[in-house]
Amino acid sequence: MDIVVSGVRPTNRQHIGNYFGAVKNFVEMQSQYNCYFFVADYHSLTTHPHPADLSANVRQTVIEYLACGLDPEKCVLYRQSDVPQIPELYLVFNMLAYLGELERAATFKEKVRSQPDNVNAGLLTYPVLMAVDIIVHRALKVPVGKDQLQHLEMTRTFANRFNHLYGVEYFPEPQAFSFSEKSASIPSLDGEGKMSKSKGESTVIYLDDDSDTIRKKMMRAKTDTGPTEPNSVKSQSVQNLFDIMQLISSQDTYNFFNESFNNCTIRYGDFKKQLGEDMVKFIEPIRERIKEISANEAYINKVLNEGGEKARLSASKTLNDVREIIGFRKF
Ligand code: ADP
Ligand code: TRP
Repeated sequence: MDIVVSGVRPTNRQHIGNYFGAVKNFVEMQSQYNCYFFVADYHSLTTHPHPADLSANVRQTVIEYLACGLDPEKCVLYRQSDVPQIPELYLVFNMLAYLGELERAATFKEKVRSQPDNVNAGLLTYPVLMAVDIIVHRALKVPVGKDQLQHLEMTRTFANRFNHLYGVEYFPEPQAFSFSEKSASIPSLDGEGKMSKSKGESTVIYLDDDSDTIRKKMMRAKTDTGPTEPNSVKSQSVQNLFDIMQLISSQDTYNFFNESFNNCTIRYGDFKKQLGEDMVKFIEPIRERIKEISANEAYINKVLNEGGEKARLSASKTLNDVREIIGFRKF
């Protein structure tokens, strides 16, 4: 069975964009592959989070992943910092990554622009750490969004460089499982771009939003002045809402509003009300599971302890081999 690895940076709340764009794919993959999913807490240190926030965000991310259907019986779910083999292999791979190629990474250049006061070495070597996350389990498949494809390319470069330098065929070439092509991109409720927590509270539906908040946010979603002639092209903001409806409402509901748009009888108030109710129905079970899991500290710890154990087992096999290959041997 192919090995899959993917990491998520810890955040305090996941939204439906994260769900449809990422987590849902993980849930589907866990039954088909040997999956390692982890919370990338070392990566998040590049922004110097407050210790209490870091801890709370890791916890919340794990809870929300579990609530969305990641099953610790089917996949290995762990915290990156519970696997000491990762920083050790990271040290080794830092010797194989060249300054020039790291400086050319789009994510690094973006950080240099956006946070000139905190261009730390960890940002520069972020792709090395990410490569190690993947190759430490000798993974073949990496489900990531488009913005991570360059990092995947760098991962292949580092893995091949290791093989070449030491004359081995040890690390396979991991391929991107680019689900952003296949899976839905969830638009922002303000009609512009994709849903993202950076765009502000009211444009994002969180997995733990309460029902009234969801209804209010949906009612405030951007529309337009309405269709004036039959079968007209939908404006971006209205199309966005139809796209969301396609994902969470029944086909009948979608068809009903689509037809009423096409024959110009649609009332956006009713449309958004329906979308709000369907969103409430969609979120409710997830929110309830978040609450349940959140109240069960013993379960969360058990999941992370067992996940950490399995991840360390896999990582230590790789690390023992690597130490042998590079010449860290007993006399
Ligand atoms: P945000 O933009 O809210 O900060 P992240 O960048 O943390 O979200 O994204 C985490 C994962 O969720 C990524 O795999 C990304 O591709 C996916 N994702 C985020 N927003 C959306 C969206 N609106 N539609 C589809 N996928 C998304
Ligand atoms: N860099 C990824 C992101 O920003 C998160 C990540 C860290 C990751 N390590 C990984 C993703 C390994 C896939 C595989 O979203």
